[in-house]
Amino acid sequence: MQEQPWWQSGVIYQVYPRSFKDASGDGVGDLKGITQKLDYLEWLGVDAVWICPFYPSPMADFGYDVSDYTGVHPMFGTLEDFDELLRGAHEREIKVLIDFVPNHTSDEHPWFQGSRSSRTSPKRDWYVWRDPRPDGGPPNNWISMLGGEPAWTFDKGTGQYYLRTFDAKQPDLNWRNPEVRKAMHGVMRFWLDRGVDGFRIDVLSFLIKDEHLRDNPEHPDWRPGGPPYRRQLRLYSEDRPEVHEVVREMRAAADAYGRDKVLVGESALPPEKLVAYYGKALDGVHLPFNFGLVLVQEWTPKVLRGVVEAYEAALPEGAWPNWFLGNHDGPRIAGRVGAARARVAQMLLLTLRGTPTCYYGDEIGMTDVPISEQLVVDPQGIRNPGHGRDPARTPMQWDATPKAGFCPGGAEPWLPVAEDHAEVNVEAQRGDPRSMLALFRRMIFLRRRFPELAAGSYRSVEAKNEAVFAYLREDERRRGGGGVGQRVLVALNLGASPQRADLSEAGPAGAVLCSTALDREGHVDLDVLELRPNEGVVLLCGDEDLRGQGERE
Ligand code: BGC
Ligand code: MG
Repeated sequence: MQEQPWWQSGVIYQVYPRSFKDASGDGVGDLKGITQKLDYLEWLGVDAVWICPFYPSPMADFGYDVSDYTGVHPMFGTLEDFDELLRGAHEREIKVLIDFVPNHTSDEHPWFQGSRSSRTSPKRDWYVWRDPRPDGGPPNNWISMLGGEPAWTFDKGTGQYYLRTFDAKQPDLNWRNPEVRKAMHGVMRFWLDRGVDGFRIDVLSFLIKDEHLRDNPEHPDWRPGGPPYRRQLRLYSEDRPEVHEVVREMRAAADAYGRDKVLVGESALPPEKLVAYYGKALDGVHLPFNFGLVLVQEWTPKVLRGVVEAYEAALPEGAWPNWFLGNHDGPRIAGRVGAARARVAQMLLLTLRGTPTCYYGDEIGMTDVPISEQLVVDPQGIRNPGHGRDPARTPMQWDATPKAGFCPGGAEPWLPVAEDHAEVNVEAQRGDPRSMLALFRRMIFLRRRFPELAAGSYRSVEAKNEAVFAYLREDERRRGGGGVGQRVLVALNLGASPQRADLSEAGPAGAVLCSTALDREGHVDLDVLELRPNEGVVLLCGDEDLRGQGERE
C-alpha cells in the first residue's frame, strides 16, 4: 500500500499571526514570535502550520487586504524572518502553509492604483469595473460579505464602479483576465521557490463572477437581524462553473513543485457543491475546507452524524476529507458548545476520517473574549455590532502573567487578553496530566500510533442510546487475516447526564486508549458502556476479546 501523503495523515495548526506571540514588544504578534514558539508546536505534535496573512497591508481587513503579495509587513518582520521561520519549522519536520488571497488586493496595491488611474490604464481590466446604472446606482444588487452594503464602490475620478465583495478597500481582481492569472501564479512560485509547503486559498469559490453580472435573488430564509451577508443567494457572485479552470491552473502551478505541496481551498459551500473543488480528475485543490462542524447548528449525535455522513457520501472516489471546529472568522468551539463539551469536540475532530485543522488556542480550550464596543476593531464588527470576529482573535494564552506571556514589556496587546488566562494557559496545562492540552497531545499521539485513526475507514455504530455518537475506524490492512482483526471505536456522550450505551455491534470488549477526562484505563465491556456526562472514549477493539492484548504501549 502506498504511503499516505503528509497532508492526509497530519494535523494542521492555524496561526493568526497578530495574536500568537509578539516578539517585538509592540502588542502585535509577529513572525519572530512564531519562530520562538516552534518548540511548542513540535512538542504539541502538529504536522503543519497555516499562517494567516503577514504581507504588507493597510490592515483594513487585518491583512486580507494585501498591498504586496511578495513581501512582509514590517509589523510582522522581514522576508529574512520568514525564511528563518520556515527553516526552523522544517528542521522540526513541521510544514508551513501560507495564506494566499487571490480574490482581491488592497486598494493600495500598485495594480489597483494603476487600474483606477484611468479607463485606458493597462491595469484597468485587472479589476471588475462597470458603468453606473442609468439612475447612477451600482451595476447590480450584489452585497458585501463584510457588511451587507452594496458590493460596489463608485470611483469619482473615472466615473465607474469597482466590485469589492468585501471592504471598499478590497477591490476584486478580474480572474477572467489571463494577465491576472499569470501574475498570481508568479506569486505562488515566489513562495514555493522559498520553500513553503502549500497554500490556504482565501475565498476560492468567489474568484469568478457571472459574466453578465446578473442580480442575485434574495435568500428566502433571511430575517432582519440575521447576518447581512446571508441576505442573498449568491447564485451569480460565487461558485460559477468557470472557477474550476482557475483552480486547476493553480493546482498545476503547485504540482510543478512536487507531490508534497498542498492546496487547501476556503469555501463555505454545502458538501454537494464543495466537493467539485477537488476537481473532476482530482486535479483541483487537495482539501476544499469543509465547514460542516462550523456551520452545524445543533451539537447532538443525530445532527452531527448527519453532517458527517452527508459529507462522506458526497466525497468523490479518492478524495480525502478534512474537518475543523473553528477559525479566525467565527466563534470558538469552546464558546459554541461550552468548556466540557469542547473536549468531546476535540476528540471528534481528531478521530473523524480526514485531515484535522486546529485553530490556535483551541487546544487549551480558549473561549471567545467579550470585546467592549470601544475596543472593536474588526470591520465586520464595526459595521454590524454583535457580528464581529475580534472575540475569537484574542492573544494566545501562554502563561498566567498579566499579558498571558503574549507580549513582553509594557505594550498593550492589540486585543484584550481573556480574563480566564490565569487558569487557561499553556504553562498551567503542560503541568497537568488531565488538562485539555494533555488530551490534545494524547489524541495526536494515538493518531500516529494507530493507522486506523490516520487512514482508516469510517462507519457509524448503533449505540442504542440517542445521546451517544459512536463510530468505528478500521484499517483494511489490520482486518483479521492471521493477526487479530482490530479497530478503533469512538464513543462520545454529547449530553450533560451520564449515559449507558450498548456498542456490542463493535465487539465484546475494548481497551481504553483515551478518555476525555484522561482518567480511565484498562478494559470495558461494550454491551454496557457507562459514559459520564460529556465524556468521550477511544477504545481498541476487535473480533476477539482483546483482553490480554493490552494497549500496545
Ligand atoms: C477570511 C476572512 C476575510 C475574507 C476576505 C475570508 O474568508 O478568512 O478573514 O475577511 O476572507 O478576505
Ligand atoms: Mg510584534
